[in-house]
Amino acid sequence: MTLPILRTTEDLRARIREWRCAGESVGLVPTMGALHEGHLSLVRLCGATTARTCVTIFVNPKQFAPGEDLERYPRDEAADARLLDAEGADALYAPDVGDVYGPGFATRVAVGAVGDDLEGAFRPGFFEGIATVVTKLLMKALPDTAFFGEKDYQQLVVIRRLVADLDIPVAIEAAPTVREADGLAAASRNAYLTPAERERAPRLFRAMVSVAQTVDAGGEVDAACADARRTLLDSGFASVDYVAVRDAETLGPPAYPARTARVLAAARLGTTRLIDNVAVAPEPGHDS
Ligand code: PAF
Repeated sequence: MTLPILRTTEDLRARIREWRCAGESVGLVPTMGALHEGHLSLVRLCGATTARTCVTIFVNPKQFAPGEDLERYPRDEAADARLLDAEGADALYAPDVGDVYGPGFATRVAVGAVGDDLEGAFRPGFFEGIATVVTKLLMKALPDTAFFGEKDYQQLVVIRRLVADLDIPVAIEAAPTVREADGLAAASRNAYLTPAERERAPRLFRAMVSVAQTVDAGGEVDAACADARRTLLDSGFASVDYVAVRDAETLGPPAYPARTARVLAAARLGTTRLIDNVAVAPEPGHDS
């Protein structure tokens, strides 16, 4: 394996400096590891966009609330490194907590309204944790472009907001959600599903597609979301946190078809919480 694994900000910056001195563009793919096809699609997009691809793996404690799955979050750095090596990534930055949050660390990045509801309402502190770590990763690496998946759609909107608000000179590129043949979105937490839950899981995608079709056909948004919620509960989901239709750019109330819209949902199958989203009338090549 030739993939260099960098543990410190100093080593990360030294490597990126070498690339910059050679006149090469740099892409960053931030992850929490447990890599799947969704992550690998970002690595490939990065490879096709910038001369160098740096992937980060850091299970960020600040985006887990007490009682969430920080301890049991899947981790297998050796397997992840092999996958990245096979994809031709140029470096892996995999720091320990101390390299990211040094002694006395106190700063928080809060993005306001776009992070307040949907996931933000069910996971207090979640987007502050994400915004803080993503700001740090971007400032450490200062890549030309950073890559994020549409699977975590609200996260993407939050990151675009913070990059614009803080004048961080990095372009944000999004890649469509990668799905299994039955529609389930690729996600590290899918590993928690039992075989019976795995069979039911694609119903979340199907319920969202049905809402998207209703909205596209001019149907009533609230009724479509209520229907989807009922269908999910009837088909074995333990609870539904939200099924919502929002403006695709601001996550405010939708104004479809004048503006693009997105259906977003989060629901629990057994103890596993799944989140997903689809575009209303998706553009070709984007999520359906
Ligand atoms: O999407 C993720 O894996 C994480 O939220 C991110 C963006 C790497 C920040 O920890």
